[in-house]
Amino acid sequence: FDKANRERLRPVYHHSPAYGWMNDPNGMFYKDGIYHLYYQFNPYGSQWENMHWGHSTSRNLIDWTDEGIAISPDALGTVFSGSAVVDKNNTAGFGAGAIVAMYTSAGESQTQSLAYSTDDGKTFVKYDRNPVITADVPDFRDPHMFWYEPTKRWIVILAAGQEMRLYSSANLKDWTYESSFGQEYGNHEGVWECPDLMQLPVRNTDKQKWMLICNINPGGPFGGNATQYFTGYFDGHRFVCESKPQVTKWMDYGKDHYAAVTFDNAPNNRRIIMAWMSNWQYANQVPTKQYRNANTLPRDLYLYEYQGETYVGIIPSPELLALRGKAIAKNLGRGKKTFNAGNGAYEIVVEIKSAINGRSIITLQNGKGEAVSMTYDVKAGTFAVDRTKSGDTSFNESFSSVTVAPVRGKLSTLRIFVDKSSIEVLDAEGRLAITNTVFPSEPYNVLIIDNEKGNKTAATIYNITK
Ligand code: FRU
Repeated sequence: FDKANRERLRPVYHHSPAYGWMNDPNGMFYKDGIYHLYYQFNPYGSQWENMHWGHSTSRNLIDWTDEGIAISPDALGTVFSGSAVVDKNNTAGFGAGAIVAMYTSAGESQTQSLAYSTDDGKTFVKYDRNPVITADVPDFRDPHMFWYEPTKRWIVILAAGQEMRLYSSANLKDWTYESSFGQEYGNHEGVWECPDLMQLPVRNTDKQKWMLICNINPGGPFGGNATQYFTGYFDGHRFVCESKPQVTKWMDYGKDHYAAVTFDNAPNNRRIIMAWMSNWQYANQVPTKQYRNANTLPRDLYLYEYQGETYVGIIPSPELLALRGKAIAKNLGRGKKTFNAGNGAYEIVVEIKSAINGRSIITLQNGKGEAVSMTYDVKAGTFAVDRTKSGDTSFNESFSSVTVAPVRGKLSTLRIFVDKSSIEVLDAEGRLAITNTVFPSEPYNVLIIDNEKGNKTAATIYNITK
């Protein structure tokens, strides 16, 4: 099934449904060597409606196996986004190690419902006393649960219009309102959706801080949706933001990174995040047929301090290294190189040997003259991705774009992950993430590097083996 649909632009090493529509990742958790990814799924067509939870599993976060539909609509409504936890101590009474999911029932109003699984996430039984959380707010959704050890309580964070609300529970069934966050913080040009809240280490210190993720649509820096986040403190009751209210931080500076949330119970204290790789501005119109939309690659998170603020570091998950095949081209400096792009899936590693004051412009091109250019402007401290000539941009006027990220410090190694219909520019150290979809008429197979003013690069292109 997962390999069956070889529609031309369907990604080779990114998760996507073989048919039907997909949006947000939901209920991601890890148990006994297996990562579970649920997702907003319309099994009946490739446009948004009839929301179900689809289900895929993987041992390495890259090769996904379709597991069919996990949760379907009922009298309370269709099944919107939510989360799942591994209830090791049987706090809910559904069984030790049961998987407990909370999702939004989208009916006449939006309420939160539970479903549980005693076969490791394959099939779910709906709790017979749903809904478990209600409120008098029209946009009230996307519950994300986690265990907070100091108070021995489950916490759920969910979006309520222009704020996030926190509730606590001892048994996953009875929830007590704790606090709200956000009315006066960050960006409010859209609806707040899909939150997450977690503790992360601050690199090069012995501190831990909390990060609250708030996906927002519209209001993103380049139009449509994006992922903002706040850093600060959490005491089991209340999240306190450490920044000034007007500070807005973005996790990814491309146009296609949304509904990003993390896995519950990941091994070795890892915080692994995946996002939906699309944008509500055009997600229903992208030029694929049997399926629509994919996820980003998995990324591991940490925090770092820079000039008085704390930012999130985003590292390509280590599993991605195993995908590297043979080097197709090596040690590329200034110049033009035609390479064998194979099926259009490869990784370009760009070592910035010295970055003086000019720009390094990295352009990918195909035989049709379609191109994406990526510009590191050392002096300006920015990295930009221009997809205005990337291929088909005609399906929606907001698709054509140049997205620009701030560079904090200097970049040393870029990892550019190219698949059939996406380009993710990630910094190996985690200080840059730019995710954009592209719809070229054939794979880009020419790499042009233009280094100004003594900038030096050594780029290597690796096959992706899958
Ligand atoms: C975000 C979102 C969620 C909602 C889901 C519905 O993309 O709008 O807020 O639960 O999609 O499919």
